[in-house]
Amino acid sequence: MVRFHRIAGCTALLLFSLSFALGQEKSNEAVERRIDALIKQMTLEEKAGQLAQYDGLSPQTTELLKKGEVGSLFNILGAENTNAAQKIAMEQSRLKIPVLFGFDVIHGYRTVFPVPIGSASSFDPQLIEQSERIAAKEASAAGMKWVFAPMVDVARDPRWGRMVEGAGEDPYLGGIVGAARVRGFQGANPADPRSVLACLKHYAAYGAVEGGRDYNTVDISEQTLREVYLPPFHSAINAGAATVMSAFQDLNGVPASANHHTLTDILRGEWKFEGPVVSDYSSVNELTVHAVAHNQEEAVQMALTAGVDMDMADGLYGKFVSDLVKSGKLPISVVEEAVRRVLRAKFKAGLFDHPYTDPQRAQTEMLAPENLALARRMAQESIVLLKNENGLLPLDKQTRNIALIGPLVDDKANQLGSWVANGRAQDAVTPHEGISSKLPNHNIMVSRGVDLDLRGPHYDSGATGAAPAPSTATGAAGEAASGPNSIDDAVSTAKKADVVILFLGEASIYTGEASSRSTLDLPGDQQKLLEAVVGTGKPVVLVLESGRPLNIQWANDHVQAILQAWYPGSQAGNAIADLLFGDAAPSARMPISWPRTVGQIPLYYAHKNTGRPTSPDRWHTGYQFESMEPLFPFGYGLTYTSFKYSNLQVETPSIASSGVLRVSADISNEGKREGTEVVQLYVHDRVAPTSRPVRELKGFTRVTLAPGDHKKVEFSVNANDLGSYDPSMKWVVPQGTYDIWVAPNAIEGEKAEFQVTN
Ligand code: NOJ
Repeated sequence: MVRFHRIAGCTALLLFSLSFALGQEKSNEAVERRIDALIKQMTLEEKAGQLAQYDGLSPQTTELLKKGEVGSLFNILGAENTNAAQKIAMEQSRLKIPVLFGFDVIHGYRTVFPVPIGSASSFDPQLIEQSERIAAKEASAAGMKWVFAPMVDVARDPRWGRMVEGAGEDPYLGGIVGAARVRGFQGANPADPRSVLACLKHYAAYGAVEGGRDYNTVDISEQTLREVYLPPFHSAINAGAATVMSAFQDLNGVPASANHHTLTDILRGEWKFEGPVVSDYSSVNELTVHAVAHNQEEAVQMALTAGVDMDMADGLYGKFVSDLVKSGKLPISVVEEAVRRVLRAKFKAGLFDHPYTDPQRAQTEMLAPENLALARRMAQESIVLLKNENGLLPLDKQTRNIALIGPLVDDKANQLGSWVANGRAQDAVTPHEGISSKLPNHNIMVSRGVDLDLRGPHYDSGATGAAPAPSTATGAAGEAASGPNSIDDAVSTAKKADVVILFLGEASIYTGEASSRSTLDLPGDQQKLLEAVVGTGKPVVLVLESGRPLNIQWANDHVQAILQAWYPGSQAGNAIADLLFGDAAPSARMPISWPRTVGQIPLYYAHKNTGRPTSPDRWHTGYQFESMEPLFPFGYGLTYTSFKYSNLQVETPSIASSGVLRVSADISNEGKREGTEVVQLYVHDRVAPTSRPVRELKGFTRVTLAPGDHKKVEFSVNANDLGSYDPSMKWVVPQGTYDIWVAPNAIEGEKAEFQVTN
């Protein structure tokens, strides 16, 4: 009987899937026919216009809109404003092709979620997806139908300010997080008025800029490109991402926005991606600055031919495409293919059926209570507990006298992080506010100690040779000599307290685009403040707010507890207070290896073994006077209980390349509180045609256990995913012995081995 039911259920599911697939195919065909019909009617200028995207609405752009020569607009906020612009396209242009409105929705629209590296630290794709769903609802209520997110660039150099926008160093984690964000933005159907199209950026390998200097050259092997930088894009495309953005930088000598190999051979040829690629801001024009194009006209010809369908902000496609076609330098087929992709995205977004946004929606969608509740949970899950000596945390709520010290204690704007879309400082809860509302009757004393300079990063002007002002050379947080917010004041405040909570880090403007740093030191006088406060002998908890790992070796040696909070967003103070006082327990993990010093960069767990692996002997890879180990490894994070791993089982009597590797282990909660463990699966192929990383993440799962409880955690990995590229860039799954770990982070864990055979 049971068997019968199961078969009947399977058959019904199969029939449903088949009819859904057939229905989908038919509607795709219908859309393609409508696109054909439109392209037939379009003039060359209208075709070129569909490939142009403009920043804002100027009088000139309004004229182009009337002529049907604008494909997309961005940075226009509010349904009233987008509707007004749309009305021009829908009522005054000849073919009434709707405009696609875009915006950078990097970690929330009005409700601000933790910065992306923070939410990635949750290792919780479901929650990340839900948070992007909320971002999509709010952004679409403000008229957006396209977000320039997620950034899926792998980042292994914390000097690069844009590390804050991604999911860290690992291609597997990056792929899972990127796919979750795409599902969240686009929902089950991107045409739903509460969904938006996602845009994967920055294609490709932007995260590998030399020296961590933004926009700089990238020169990496094809193997590294394919094994490290491309997988998150591929995984997010498989999750249905509708669009892609080409990157600024040059890649192995060919700028990413003119790179036929990545844009056409791989993206379209190998991955069968059918959506449009938009350039990054003015990156078509910058082909003349990279000096691969003699002039702007040639830049347009190169970019379009390579596979960039839409030109962001510089207006060059609108200006040159029709002349290029007329002079025979650009085949019309290339232009029409690009137009087809842009129109396909507009159909996918449902714009032909719903070109306008209901202006009433904003009133109920923005900052809705459920949005703020999810932002609080996402923030709780994004903060990593790095150290907790003698169980100082969670703090006892009976602790009466609490000193909150540091430049970020009371600062609203800096809780949000860089690039906050339409987020507003006034909506942010500061740590002071969060802790005071949790403990309204406690003696909470506040002293900033030093001030953060909010003017932003300071650049040494190469052009004039001018040196940066001395006070800003390491970033900017200056000490007030005396008075209410001096280091002296902070010390005397600390002396009156039972516990000190120090909030140090970077102003959020020190991270993000064009915010590279040459040092990871705490900006300004914060190290001095830290040492002075620790000198009081009081128990100290350090809460770091930053978009990158900072140099905290001294703090790690002298402070009892450390939380890496990143920038937690609108609900920062509440989430921090929840974790500090035990109303929630930390569960986040580092999505990057935390360096001891800037000199160790690049530092990542999936490094190669080398012919001379690290050893105390001299003739081996390593540094004089410095360890090769990170301060905290990838995947690392503590909570308020401890877990034991045991009984690792690997079920692989024989797996061919179509087989599945099954692994299980028992995890038990050995402590006295409920806790969540992020259980990680790593693999190492012992002998392969190309040298392999010492470990590679292949799976992870969050497990929540009550004290004394245990659970069998199971993983399955397709054997094909154990493979790698051989020197001719053919994907192979070598037979032989592999190591496997079920682990709490990238350097510990239960280890076993298994064989791959045919
Ligand atoms: C430049 C940035 O690199 C990109 O991430 C962003 O989406 C565009 N500007 C548009 O603002």
